[in-house]
Amino acid sequence: MESDFLIIGSGIAGLSCALKCAEMGSVIIITKKKDIDTATNLAQGGIAAVLEKEDSVNSHARDTLSCGAGLCDEDVVRLVVEAGADRVADLVEIGVGFVSDEKTSSGYSLGREGGHTHRRVAHAYDLTGREIERALLEKVNNHSRISIIEEQIAIDLLMVEGEFPGWDADDGLKCAGAYVMVGEQVEVYQARVTILCSGGVGKVYLYTTNPDIATGDGLAMAFRAGAVLENMEFVQFHPTCLYHSQEKNFLISEAVRGEGAILRDASGTAFMEKYDKRKELATRDTVARAIDKELKESGEDCVYLDISQRDAAFVKKRFPTIYKRCLLRGIDITKEAIPVVPAAHYMCGGVKTDTEGRTSIPGLFALGESACTGLHGGNRLASNSLLEAVVYADRAAKYCAKIWPMIKDGQSIAVDAWQSGDANDLEEEILINHNWDAIRRVMWNYVGIVRSLKRLELAKVRMEAIFKEIDQHYHDYHITPNMVELRNIALISLLIIQSAQQRKESRGLHYLIDHKEKSDVIRSTVFRKKIDGEKWEIEVLEEKNNE
Ligand code: SIN
Repeated sequence: MESDFLIIGSGIAGLSCALKCAEMGSVIIITKKKDIDTATNLAQGGIAAVLEKEDSVNSHARDTLSCGAGLCDEDVVRLVVEAGADRVADLVEIGVGFVSDEKTSSGYSLGREGGHTHRRVAHAYDLTGREIERALLEKVNNHSRISIIEEQIAIDLLMVEGEFPGWDADDGLKCAGAYVMVGEQVEVYQARVTILCSGGVGKVYLYTTNPDIATGDGLAMAFRAGAVLENMEFVQFHPTCLYHSQEKNFLISEAVRGEGAILRDASGTAFMEKYDKRKELATRDTVARAIDKELKESGEDCVYLDISQRDAAFVKKRFPTIYKRCLLRGIDITKEAIPVVPAAHYMCGGVKTDTEGRTSIPGLFALGESACTGLHGGNRLASNSLLEAVVYADRAAKYCAKIWPMIKDGQSIAVDAWQSGDANDLEEEILINHNWDAIRRVMWNYVGIVRSLKRLELAKVRMEAIFKEIDQHYHDYHITPNMVELRNIALISLLIIQSAQQRKESRGLHYLIDHKEKSDVIRSTVFRKKIDGEKWEIEVLEEKNNE
């Protein structure tokens, strides 16, 4: 397969970038399940942007920086926040129906979430992601230059010798597409430009708000290809995931707290005041840690989020999905509190990019949750992720338009077909399934909301053994999508653990009981793969942001 642009992933970043890249050339989007199986589609809260006269870029930037715990790149924060209103206008232009409110100066109904000092979250009630995905897919599916191919999982990036205008690499290699599983075969998808938009890593943990696709495929492929990654220790845990035996990942949006919901323990006592003067509207790291502490101390299974003091008609109108889903499980949220627990939600680190979304590998861009742009730092401000995705999709496409005259006539390259050697069929699926469970438990128990050096070391030893076993299966047996994903979550787990071991302080989402304070030196964990014989480890490229 050949195209001008290969986009891996069909969430907001991939689809909005596809629409802009299609102005230059042909676009193939591959997605490993159905086109709507994305984190975007599950997003409830909305998109943060400065839309009101009473709000300001300075205020949104200040909130983002303060939430990011000293690790945000200030220039990036400013450029993203400044572009917010224009990118929301782009979404409206393609048909996204944000809820309006004629009483506000912007005309939008704006929600409030933790860490924001203003109401600035444009939403479509609690179905914002679904509405954005619907509008983008409608445009993409009707575009003559864009093809979306479902049920195809990328395995590895296609790296070839060659140059890319304005982009240097130490090893003279560039990315020219990807190896992709098509049924049981592995095919080469060649492209002038490859854009990773494959989302996050939530499936590394036992409990997550993420959809099943969130296995860190893009990050794992980029790391194997030699890309620089950053800040992988910063995994955001959402404080309020529905706790119910028949639900595995249903989020209770932070917007519910934004509308006044109170966190209570099993006896009905509100507890957030003990932890932060902003109470329920403190940032997510603080709220998730508070809940974790309450649960560890009380031995209870969950805490309770109570919005029942608000008018029932308002609650049903503002949170229709949450209301209906909870009612299905026997909980009437207009009358009783919702049982909730924290769950892995968002990877703040990722493939390091510059301000145009370019990675350290020529020809390879990373956008959305796969990328680490410098916006989120050590803790992402709520609803800044959809914003980052659309801003960087736009910047990457504009950068491609600038260099397009230099790359558009390049010839395709003769590429070696995928070699499966003398691999056999996997006879026992248990070899794979057991390790899925083992990894997710190790990560939840040893590398979760509160960490210790001892638990991190134990996790490393266990994960190294599991990783070795999976790598052996990968070479011995014919690969399957399940095996590809397992290999990726094993690698991502190791990267999270090794990055966490580098950070001997507590900062943002990384809380270490051995070092409860922030260090005076503020640094990002910037690293890439270092190969030593048959083995690899992470090579930390020390980068001081500030001292
Ligand atoms: C939520 O609705 O709470 C999720 C919003 C986000 O993760 O930014």
